[in-house]
Amino acid sequence: MNAPDPLPSIESDPHVGEVLLSEEKLAERIRELGDQLTRDYAGKAPLLVCVLRGAYVFLTDLARATDLPVQIDFIAVSSYGSSTRTSGVVRLVKDLEVDLTDRHVILVEDIVDTGLTLRYLRRSLEARGPASLEVCALLARESADLEGLGVRYVGFTIPGDFVIGYGLDVAERYRNLRYIAKYEPDADTAE
Ligand code: IMP
Repeated sequence: MNAPDPLPSIESDPHVGEVLLSEEKLAERIRELGDQLTRDYAGKAPLLVCVLRGAYVFLTDLARATDLPVQIDFIAVSSYGSSTRTSGVVRLVKDLEVDLTDRHVILVEDIVDTGLTLRYLRRSLEARGPASLEVCALLARESADLEGLGVRYVGFTIPGDFVIGYGLDVAERYRNLRYIAKYEPDADTAE
């Protein structure tokens, strides 16, 4: 009996396209964001709310880039299913455990695309009476209305290509790439 073909390494996967943001570039920008948060929240103990699952890698690096007594909690929403197109409906999959009353909350997002997810989360968190609520997104589409959505901190703005790595996935894959790359869909399915 023949042994099954070994799985290809993630780096040689044909869906992993051009590297848009290298490990070094990500680290440098996250250090800057961490410094900015440390200055802006001096004397406060903000609560970092990680939007699962895409923001989990960013959150761990961002939290360690600050010199603040931060607390961490997690919220999970779903709007994409397993495809690369939004379903247009946001669903709360896991709620926070921490009470937000009078807390300085920083919502940590992976990418702001249409803003649908963010609008939903903002409404939900604002209703819980935080002292303040700001958004820190690693990525934002050039097309996103960051001012209208009230996004105060952004790592990078990027064009419309679907991207993977550093927490971002397609159907739960590629989250463990150390950089952010373009996703190359199959030519026949354009998916
Ligand atoms: P929005 O609701 O359209 O702003 O979409 C935001 C969510 O969609 C993000 O939190 C991601 O989970 C997902 N998303 C949007 N664009 C991408 C992408 O290029 N790669 C991976 N996930 C993405």
